Amino acid sequence: TCALPISPQPPVLHSLSNAAAAACAGCYGHTMADTRPIGFFDSGVGGLTVLREAQLRLPGESTIYLGDSARHPYGTRSDEEVVHFASELAEVLIREGVKAIVIACNTATAVALPTLRTRYPETPFIGVIRPGAAAAALSTRNGRIGVLATAATVRSGAYFTALKDENPALQIVQVAASELVPLIEQGEHGSAALRSAVAQVLLPLTSITVAQRVDTLLLGCTHFPFAREVFASCFGDTVAIVDSATAAAGTLREVLAVNQLESPGSSRGTAADAGYAGHAAPERASIAPTHRLLTTGDTVQFRQLAVSLFGSERAVETVEQYKVPAQS
Ligand code: DGL
Repeated sequence: TCALPISPQPPVLHSLSNAAAAACAGCYGHTMADTRPIGFFDSGVGGLTVLREAQLRLPGESTIYLGDSARHPYGTRSDEEVVHFASELAEVLIREGVKAIVIACNTATAVALPTLRTRYPETPFIGVIRPGAAAAALSTRNGRIGVLATAATVRSGAYFTALKDENPALQIVQVAASELVPLIEQGEHGSAALRSAVAQVLLPLTSITVAQRVDTLLLGCTHFPFAREVFASCFGDTVAIVDSATAAAGTLREVLAVNQLESPGSSRGTAADAGYAGHAAPERASIAPTHRLLTTGDTVQFRQLAVSLFGSERAVETVEQYKVPAQS
């Protein structure tokens, strides 16, 4: 609980559960201690790239990640299917008691974000497209950006719109690369098959003179950072690689702070941080954060990929099986 006086008109807090409200009775808008987990979902392992960045920035926050590996890829599906699957996954996470949901999937963000926000108004949803577009627009020097994404993301025009909102003068080359997703989902991160598939999909960007090329490549699919080095090797150092995963993690931190949803001691580098801009030290975390990983697919394969990304066995204890209704 909080020693600060109760303000006469408490601000409306986003989806504060009864448990969280009880834990902080009488505390309106000051050092709110909301220890509920943050939910993440993706069509498979791709969103783990967002989870990793979020855990680095928010070490005090608990997380729960749901990967729909049994039904990947999403990028070649119809909009209706993607909206349907994304809603199912969001509902699972809401039932688990999350305080916010990161749609750690560009395809689901591009196609389903407005529907999810409308259907579940109590839950703040953070998409990956706007943060990725903002980062790419800040990165380019020649005003030419390549966007590599799934067919559904390209079809939606979401990156085109978001990038033009950042800077209408940008020239944008979108390349659909759905075929890379199953290779990455199967763990082929540096294989000859992946290298040759990447070289092939990048031809529209690499088969022109360096002077005409994009100087920024936006990895508009959360699976792609798994193979970042492969993309980089196709360009040498002439192109900056920006990914939506890293950018979205920064936005998540801001959303938690603005909505007063932070766990005590949760973040680094925000106004809540000790020593930052003269603010007082944050409350210390009283409960160690917990991290759960769930997949609708093969738990052993999912765990292997998570370990390869997080770089340590210890970081990934167990992976739980979750059966979506269609499978059960
Ligand atoms: N990782 C996802 C994305 O960011 C989905 C890829 C897929 O399932 O096709 O688009």
